Amino acid sequence: MNQNATQPQSPEPDPFVEVATLSDIEPEEPLHVQVQGTPMLLVRVGVEVFAIGETCTHETASLESGFVEDGCIECPRHGAKFDLRSGAALTLPATRALPRYPVRLADGRVFVSPQPKG
Ligand code: FES
Repeated sequence: MNQNATQPQSPEPDPFVEVATLSDIEPEEPLHVQVQGTPMLLVRVGVEVFAIGETCTHETASLESGFVEDGCIECPRHGAKFDLRSGAALTLPATRALPRYPVRLADGRVFVSPQPKG
């Protein structure tokens, strides 16, 4: 018997959690959700849904009432803009990117992982 044989590993648990349906998310109107204690915003742009951090990285303003246009969200407090796809801070006064979270769409349902993208 091979002493070095490895036991079959159980698959990693799927981190995705169902958080909404597509019809819950108005186009370009951020929807606040909590995924396993992590606050985030879902933003629907065309056929895509992005999940980003709920709080501006400049100070602590919520981006829930942020203005969405051209694939970006603008902080309502001081006007920093963030790219929804990359999370990058595009304009001052913010200099740090927003966390982004993986999104899956299936049959009109929206699933998000609370583990931020790298
Ligand atoms: S708190 Fe968002 S730009 Fe200042």
